[in-house]
This record gives sequence, structure tokens and C-alpha cells, in this order.
Amino acid sequence: MFRTKKCNECRKENDGESVVLSGWVYRRRDHGGLIFADLRDFYGMTQVVFDPNHVDKGVFSEAEGLRSEYVIKIEGKIRLRPDGQANKALETGEIEVLVDSMEVLNESDVLPFVIDQEEEVGEDIRLKYRYLDLRRQRMRNNVVNRYRIIKFMRDFLDSEDFLEVETPMMIKGTPEGSREYLVPSRIHPAKFYVLPQSPQQLKQMLMISGIDKYFQIARCFRDEDLRGDRQPEFTQLDMEMCFTDTEQVMNINEKLATNLVAKFRPDVKIMHEPFLRMTYEEAISIYGSDKPDVRFDLKLVDVSDIVKECGFKVFSGTVENGGVVKALCVPGGAKYSRKEIDHFEEIAKIYGAKGLAYVINSREEGLKSPITKFFKEEELAELVKTTGCNPGDIMFFSADEKETACVSLGSVRLAIGRKEGLIDDGVFAFVWVTDFPLFKVDSETGQLASTHHPFTAPKDDDIQFLETEPLKAESLAYDLVLNGNEIAGGSIRIHKQETQSKVFNALKISKDEVNSRFGHLLKAFTFGAPPHGGIAWGLDRFVMIMQNEPNIREVIPFPKDQKCRDLMLDAPSNMPEDTISELNIKLIES
Ligand code: AMO
Ligand code: AMP
Repeated sequence: MFRTKKCNECRKENDGESVVLSGWVYRRRDHGGLIFADLRDFYGMTQVVFDPNHVDKGVFSEAEGLRSEYVIKIEGKIRLRPDGQANKALETGEIEVLVDSMEVLNESDVLPFVIDQEEEVGEDIRLKYRYLDLRRQRMRNNVVNRYRIIKFMRDFLDSEDFLEVETPMMIKGTPEGSREYLVPSRIHPAKFYVLPQSPQQLKQMLMISGIDKYFQIARCFRDEDLRGDRQPEFTQLDMEMCFTDTEQVMNINEKLATNLVAKFRPDVKIMHEPFLRMTYEEAISIYGSDKPDVRFDLKLVDVSDIVKECGFKVFSGTVENGGVVKALCVPGGAKYSRKEIDHFEEIAKIYGAKGLAYVINSREEGLKSPITKFFKEEELAELVKTTGCNPGDIMFFSADEKETACVSLGSVRLAIGRKEGLIDDGVFAFVWVTDFPLFKVDSETGQLASTHHPFTAPKDDDIQFLETEPLKAESLAYDLVLNGNEIAGGSIRIHKQETQSKVFNALKISKDEVNSRFGHLLKAFTFGAPPHGGIAWGLDRFVMIMQNEPNIREVIPFPKDQKCRDLMLDAPSNMPEDTISELNIKLIES
């Protein structure tokens, strides 16, 4: 028998009992002839004591040879620790186990990093030895809470009559805006399966099958450039319902989210209940982001009207050409050094700004800036009034076409919020963003593209624009944002073949291509497809926020690194030539 108790179970009530424990040696200390070891298993830790006056010489000398992460089994007696020596930090801190016998089950080489400290270790090393990294308390908590959160979601949806249905991993391409991972078919030379970017089309097929409420903890694959909140392989809580509308989808998800927060983060307060709702237009104009962080105030103001005739050509010229000038007033910002201002400008430029003009309202000298000389007194007075720029404050400006002006200044807003500690960590701010444009112009190709995906329903009143002015059409899509992170996105779907065809037309997908890529869906729509809609949560992102982690890799047991590699398994890797030729694939030497 390896154990009669787990390492978190012995208490003072067990004083005098015999116990068998197995686990890893966490720390070993020699003290006045005694050897103490903290024995750790998945559940917790127990202090065990080797007393040379009590155990065999052989056992004691083996105990002297114990190193970190040796795996041992001990038998002994539980006893109270002497007065004043209890360890309050440990569940088992009032007792220790006096060892009678020990068996070393396995030894451990010197570790690449220390398990028993939460010290900073390079991420490459952590990922290469992920199985050791996962022995650490923080990572163990992340794995456990991820499981508990998923279980809570399953139980909640089960109680709301949702059915979990699995959908295949080897499918046909489904456009969600990213590049796809391909799986070559051996049996059908030169043909490929595609790994799903999401179960989108399949969950719609399930609705057409008459499944009323579907959900799935679904793995998704997207071949895109990575960031802290993106992985090539990630998990969604995916949902879809028949005969539903935006209100119902929002209500059920709001209930799920608030229940999850109450259960797992009782320490935080939800900022708005019911959740705040904001149109895409408001989010961009006021917060400079389609995922606004509303935990702090700083709002963008449109000053195009005030500066449209000013002498600063950058501003007046932008307005003349149909662009806008947005301003951001930062209370207390007059203190910023040239260097700090330059840094904000760099940030704005990452988001496409051409510059970041500023005007300081100095307590001593009034308005100060390289550009004030281009403005009339009244224009400056109006800027000060409209932005609420008091003495001691600073105004920043971005002039550009609307989206760039807003988003670049929005990035400065976020940087300032973080720098000035304006963000309240004790608050969860959920926001529903709605009324998205159905289409956007892809910045790389200049072509029309879906803002969400091509199955998103346009608003009924906007179907008329699909053929003539598609950019005018708004969709029945909604995103759920938490603390400035997009944690979920969904929509009411198109369920009529005619509307779906119009959307494909607007996207300039040719008839042949529509038939070969989406023929199955259009066909399915002809057999009584019910109205339906749904949403998908980025589960990793949600768990990241719940666990207060800085990136999603911390809450994924075996993530890819920033270059898409699995450093532990060393993937991707070369394959034997015959395996590749069996798939009818020829590699091009590069
Ligand atoms: P969408 O593409 O918005 O919608 O994805 C839903 C949510 O998944 C998360 N997410 C990611 N998380 C980690 N790594 C990634 N690479 C990644 N990409 C997306 C985000 C996002 O909000 N089929 C639709 C959903 C629907 O319409 O029902 C879809 O996949 O948190
Ligand atoms: P310049 O005329 O290039 O010397 O710029 C004068 C100031 O205006 C600098 O602080 C620039 O950062 C700023 N600036 C330049 N272009 C823009 C723009 N499109 N929007 C906001 N500020 C700008």
C-alpha cells in the first residue's frame, strides 16, 4: 500500500495514529541531529521527521541522502508539533509524522529550476520541462481551477437543458478569418481535411437537425500570429440555440458569467449588473477600442468641429479630407516629461497614428505646446472647455480617418490607465458590444470581409443594403468584453438560403466557390432551417482573467510558445520521407 492518507489530511485529532504517506520531497532540512522533510503530493504537504534515536541507522542515512523531488514512501506516527512550532501556512501545520520506515520509490536528478519557489524562471525552460513547472503550486491551481470552471459551465448548461454534442476535428474549411491547419488525406491523394477554426458550421447543422440547445467544450485551431491572448490551438465554450434572439443569448450568458464570478472570485465586484451594453460605434468613439476597458473613465472626445478651420494643417487638412480629430484629456498629465510623451506617441504609432500632438495646461505658464501658435485664442479656449482640461492636465490629439484616430488614442488611454494605476483590480467590468458593421474592408487586400463570420445575420432592416451599399449594413452580432478582453463573441445567424447567398455575393465569393465550399450549408437551409443563434467564449482567456494571470499560456497545461512550438515534445518536427511520400506530398527544398 502506498498510502493510508494523503499529504493534506493529517490533523491534531489524528495524534498518535499510524500513517503511510507517499509523495515528493519538497524541502529537506537538518536540525540539531534531526532531519525534517516536507513531503508533498497533489493535495498538500506534511512534515515528516527522521530521528536518529528512533529509526534504524540505515533509514537515517538514506534520509541524509534525500534530495529535492525524490519520491518516497514513509510509515510513521502522527504527533503534535511542540508548542509554538505550528506552521499556520500549512493545513497540516499542527502535526508532524515521526518516521518509522522509508522506501525510496525513485530518485531525481538535479532539477533545471527549483520547484519550491515561485521565482522567475525563463519561459523557454518552463515550457521545455512543463511537467516540472506543473508541479508548482501556482500552475497546479491553474490546472485545478480550469477544470472546476469547465465543470461549473457544464453543470450550469445541463441545468438549463443544453446538450453537449461533439463535432469532428477533421472537417472542410470554415472561414472565420484565419488561416487554417490542413491534414493531408492518404486515401484521397491531393485532398485535405481542415482542422476547425471553431465548430461554427457544425453547430448550425445541429440546429437544422433539431437539437434545441447545444454546447461543447470545443478545441479550435487557427494558424495566426500569436500574442499573449492567442494560441494556435485553444478552447471555446461553444453554444447555439434554436428559436432564440439576442436578449435570450445575452441573458443566459450573463447569468452564467455572474454565477461563475460569485463562485470563483467572491473577492471581486461586478461593476455593472445587468452588464453594460454599448454599440460598436460608441465603443470605438469613446474608448478607442472594440473591447473597451471601462474600469476607468478617461474618455475620447471628438474635436473635429473646433479645429476644422485652425491653422494647424495636420488637423484642418484631416477634417477636410473626411477624417476626424480626437482628443484625450489626462488629469494631472502636465507632469509628463518629453520622454514620457514620446513614449505615448510610439504607442499611438503602433496603432497607425501619424503622430500624437499634445497641449499642456501648465499651472504656472498656461497652455504650452509646439502647436499652440497655430490656433486662435477661441479655438484653444474651446478645446480646453470641451475636453475639460484644467490647469495641471494635458490634452493628446490624434488626427486621422476615424478608426485609426480612435484606436490609436485608445491605446494611449490604456497605457495611461495602467501607468497611473487608474485600473481597479477589485472590479470585473463586463460589457456587451453590439451593432457591429456586418462587413469591414480588409486592410491588406482592400476587399470586403465579414466583421465576424459570413453566417452572421444582418439586421432585418439592413438586408436591403447587401447588394447596393454593404458597408452600411449592421449585424445581429454581440461580443462580451471583460476588463478590456474580448472573452466571447456570437450572433444570430442567417437561416435563409437567399440571405446567405446575398452575403456570399457581397463578399465576392463566386458561385462555383460557394457551391464547392458552402453547398452543404445552403442545401441544408432549404430543408426547414429554424431561426437560430449562439456564442462562443474564449475559455482560455476567461480562465486567465479569473486566475489573474498575464497570458493564456499560464492556464493551458501544454501550450505552444510564442513561435508556435511545443518545446517539450519538440513539435513541429521533421517526418520520415516514406511517411511524407505516402501522403503524396513532395517537400520543396528551401
Ligand atoms: P470568435 O472567432 O470571435 O467566434 O471566437 C470566440 C472567442 O474565442 C476566443 N479566441 C481565441 N482564444 C485564444 N486564442 C485564439 N487564437 C483565439 N481566437 C479567438 C476569443 C473570442 O471571443 N464561431 C464563432 C462564435 C459564434 O459566432 O458563435 C467564433 O469562433 O475570446
Ligand atoms: P510635425 O508637424 O510633424 O512637426 O508635428 C507636430 C506635432 O503634431 C507632433 O507632436 C506630432 O506628433 C503631431 N502630429 C503629426 N501628425 C499628427 C496626426 N495625424 N495626429 C495627431 N498629431 C500629429
